[in-house]
Amino acid sequence: MQDIQIHDKTFVPYISNEELEQAIKRMAIKIHHDYEGEIPVFIGVLKGVVVFMSDLLKAYKGDCEISFIQMKSYEGIKTTGDVKTLMDLNVDVKGRHIILLEDIVDTGNTLYALHELIKEKAVKSVKTATLLYKPDAYTKDLKIDYIGIEIPDKFVVGYGLDYDELGRNLPDIYQLKD
Ligand code: IMP
Ligand code: MG
Repeated sequence: MQDIQIHDKTFVPYISNEELEQAIKRMAIKIHHDYEGEIPVFIGVLKGVVVFMSDLLKAYKGDCEISFIQMKSYEGIKTTGDVKTLMDLNVDVKGRHIILLEDIVDTGNTLYALHELIKEKAVKSVKTATLLYKPDAYTKDLKIDYIGIEIPDKFVVGYGLDYDELGRNLPDIYQLKD
């Protein structure tokens, strides 16, 4: 694999599609094991989650429902610290087992804000899952129940993740070249 250019920045190959798929299969098996006999609702945080969520759903062997919410805290390659809801939930989550799905947890601001919002809705339970996790950037106490791959605090693109809206359709993940 080769370095790629997106807007003004260069990125180097970092996590292959095969590796991502393996990590996602492991997550799907673990989640299914924990929700045996239940019908959880996966709530994905748009837009970054779409590629991961699609692969997770295909690997998930039980019954489940899905929904989406759109939240945004990033401008370019930096967090703004302020989480905005751009598209609200379109499912009744009352009395349901909820699994919040993120493409990547960085500071945790987004996941935390979403978790607070869901907690108020009389759900039966709420857990959190993310494909990528940057432990060195995380600032919250909220437990992340399912983690695909831990990565260092460096900006990445591909597999749903963008740099100013480009790069989401790359099958592999790339890391910002320093
Ligand atoms: P947090 O709220 O700081 O945890 O950031 C979460 C959101 O910021 C993610 O859902 C992504 O949309 C975006 N984000 C965080 N880190 C990266 C990255 O390295 N590349 C692309 N997007 C990122
Ligand atoms: Mg996101």
